[in-house]
Amino acid sequence: MKVLAEIGKTSSVITSLKSSDKRIGFVPTMGALHEGHLSLIRASRASNDVTVVSIFVNPTQFDKKEDFLKYPKSLDKDLELLKQAGCDLVFTPASKNLYPEDAVSATFDFGGIEKEMEGKFRDNHFNGVATIVKKLFEIVQPNNAYFGEKDFQQLQIIKNLTIQLGLPTEVHGCPIYREKDGLAMSSRNVRLTPLQRDAAPFVYKILKEVKIRFENHTVSETKDWVAQQFQTQPLLDLEYFEITDEDTLQSASSKNTNQKQRAFIAVFAGAIRLIDNMPL
Ligand code: PAF
Repeated sequence: MKVLAEIGKTSSVITSLKSSDKRIGFVPTMGALHEGHLSLIRASRASNDVTVVSIFVNPTQFDKKEDFLKYPKSLDKDLELLKQAGCDLVFTPASKNLYPEDAVSATFDFGGIEKEMEGKFRDNHFNGVATIVKKLFEIVQPNNAYFGEKDFQQLQIIKNLTIQLGLPTEVHGCPIYREKDGLAMSSRNVRLTPLQRDAAPFVYKILKEVKIRFENHTVSETKDWVAQQFQTQPLLDLEYFEITDEDTLQSASSKNTNQKQRAFIAVFAGAIRLIDNMPL
């Protein structure tokens, strides 16, 4: 497994792989890898000749400086996991090389999907994500790229980005990976205190119950019910619960049997933000 930090060297390795017709699968990450990331690597290895993983904690997608500074880092462990998982190339760029000027994001228009949910609560988040994904795709030139459905809105934004920019990369969403008790895997979970960690699977429990209740309750009844359930949870603060159409991500006012709908949730456990979602 090669580990490269320099953009120039990485580009020339990629160019030579492409010139020998190798199909490149790409898994962009911010490190602190877990089983969810490894499932993306397995998906990439199954359909590509070479799997590239990037590790870069992107400053422009954080709306809170503290969250950026406290983002977990475990490079040595990550490299060990990547080696075992059969990754071929790890790209670990430095911020000053990806953002040679100031670390600022470009501005994108995703037709409104960037303004819903995460877009409402995390200022400029998707401009930051799109800025870094565009830069990484330009360097890695992947045939296929793999993202977890836990960040379902991010996945839709990146699909839209590749269409908008006419990029040749096919973007694939992979199922959410969960702990045994249902908590969606996330690099941030290691920051939960033991008590918060015990409380956190409640988020998944609620989503599972929503899926059943939604069969015979309206959107607004379901939303009220979720809000009430979180009042019983002193360690979890509900930020939002939404039911939306999967494509537009616009808040649904009623059940739509012609359109796939999905429930989305964001919750704070202290300063740690947990998100999750489920198809209905
Ligand atoms: O999902 C993530 O880890 C990040 O948002 C990504 C896609 C690597 C961009 O920094």
